[in-house]
Amino acid sequence: MAAMRQSESLDARFYQAADQFFPANNKLALTFDDVTLATLYSEILPRDTQLDTQLAENLRLNIPVISSDMDTVTESRMAIAMAANGGLGLIHYNMPERQQLSEVSRVKNHVHGLIQEPIQVAPDQLIGDVLALIEQKKFGFSTFPVVDDKGKLVGLLSGHVVKPRYAKRKVADALTPRAQVHTITQKELGKDPIARADKFFNEHLGIHKLLVVDDKDNLRGLFTMSDIERITQERNAQFKPARDARFHLICGAAVSATRNAFGELDRERILNHVGALVERGVDVVAVSTAHGHSQGVGDTVRVLRDAFPKLPIIAGNVTGAAGVEYLAECGANAIKVGQGPGSICTTRNVAGVGIPQMTALYVCSRAAAKKKVSILADGGIVKSGDIVKALTLSQAVICGGIFAGCNEAPGDVMEIGGKLYKQYRGMGSLAAMKSGSAARYGQPANPTQKVAAEGIEALKEACGSVDRVLAQLIGGIQSGMGYLGAANLTQLRDRARYIRVSPAGMREAAPHDVVELKTGS
Ligand code: XMP
Repeated sequence: MAAMRQSESLDARFYQAADQFFPANNKLALTFDDVTLATLYSEILPRDTQLDTQLAENLRLNIPVISSDMDTVTESRMAIAMAANGGLGLIHYNMPERQQLSEVSRVKNHVHGLIQEPIQVAPDQLIGDVLALIEQKKFGFSTFPVVDDKGKLVGLLSGHVVKPRYAKRKVADALTPRAQVHTITQKELGKDPIARADKFFNEHLGIHKLLVVDDKDNLRGLFTMSDIERITQERNAQFKPARDARFHLICGAAVSATRNAFGELDRERILNHVGALVERGVDVVAVSTAHGHSQGVGDTVRVLRDAFPKLPIIAGNVTGAAGVEYLAECGANAIKVGQGPGSICTTRNVAGVGIPQMTALYVCSRAAAKKKVSILADGGIVKSGDIVKALTLSQAVICGGIFAGCNEAPGDVMEIGGKLYKQYRGMGSLAAMKSGSAARYGQPANPTQKVAAEGIEALKEACGSVDRVLAQLIGGIQSGMGYLGAANLTQLRDRARYIRVSPAGMREAAPHDVVELKTGS
């Protein structure tokens, strides 16, 4: 027993808790690769760890991961994928306000498994036209609802008849007529549409499609048996979708500290905009700027807190305790921490300011604990190990670059030299600021070449679906928690023990002295 205590105290001299380690290293700003976490005795298997996190009284995620409010990262497709995996997407604001509202509506109205705008064909089209459409759009399916010019369902064009030999026939002559098509009304879907569709497919042997109509028989959606089967399997997954009290996926939206022509905060416009977002069901707004410890951001948060007492508010970005305290006192629930760590950021080079992320997170986390607000580690995350380290000091992470190459990020895939890429740009890049984000960097609304950009335009290699990327990240987080014997994120924060890493130690941490055949991901 005495030997055990001696070994523990030896460990403790080298591997220190945050409140010892960071103050002892207060002359040097540290980021993820500068530190490593020590293992601890564990009775926890990675797969048994829980990743849920509370960001505000009314905002709980099932995984602690948020996609950035950037115009090459989060619109409705990304936000749907993030929430479906238990996280959150913040819809960016580099678009007209009306468009942002409809992006939020798309997420809030999304019924997992229901194709809400199915590809449809018209009765007077030729089967040859439908074949050309399939070829042009590379559809992997050939059954289509047939709808007249008023949106009314007139039948179903089955894949069995979409064949070149019938190319000259009209859709109207080949369709399964309305009376024989299986449909369900929106009202009949009830609270659990997936269970309802699953029951239908059980009861109707050999039927693989179920169409959804409204009271006037207008087409409103389509269920396919394969989607329902996949989702029913996923329901047994460990991390459930993040939903609101009405069972809708959760969604966040970014807003800026908009100013009027006189340079004053445009309170009325901000209130109208956020009011409309709230009407659409938004679960959280993020007042997103490069410098959150500033009057404009504080006043915006105050105005919103007064008008919407229960609305979760994220605000930022800051890197110091005073900034956290200020935004918390203005009414923010969660504070974004990060100035200049992002993969496309140049703030530290251009402005000479910003703090490496682990030190910033430590300082901010101690102020946040006093103010009972959450901390979001925003930027600089390139691997799951960075997330584990960030979560030892924060309640969730915000990632841009990791998701920018995913299918669900806005923008097209491009091929360069035989490889596939997607565009990824900083919101402080000149191109993004011209599209609307200039206020975020305190720049005039229509910046010219003279403005100092604080971000770059870049490419990310296309990396498939968000589901796949998140599965890798979650696996890494759970593995880290297993090593620390942490069953949940609170225990991870309590149990973390840190030590500095030398440059040689950093080299040792990556694959070395081998010819790599396959990457770990
Ligand atoms: P990652 O490393 O995940 O970082 O790609 C995403 C985060 O970077 C911030 N961001 C910027 N910071 N100039 C900056 O200094 C920019 O142009 C810029 N654009 C985004 C933002 O916090 C984001 O979540």
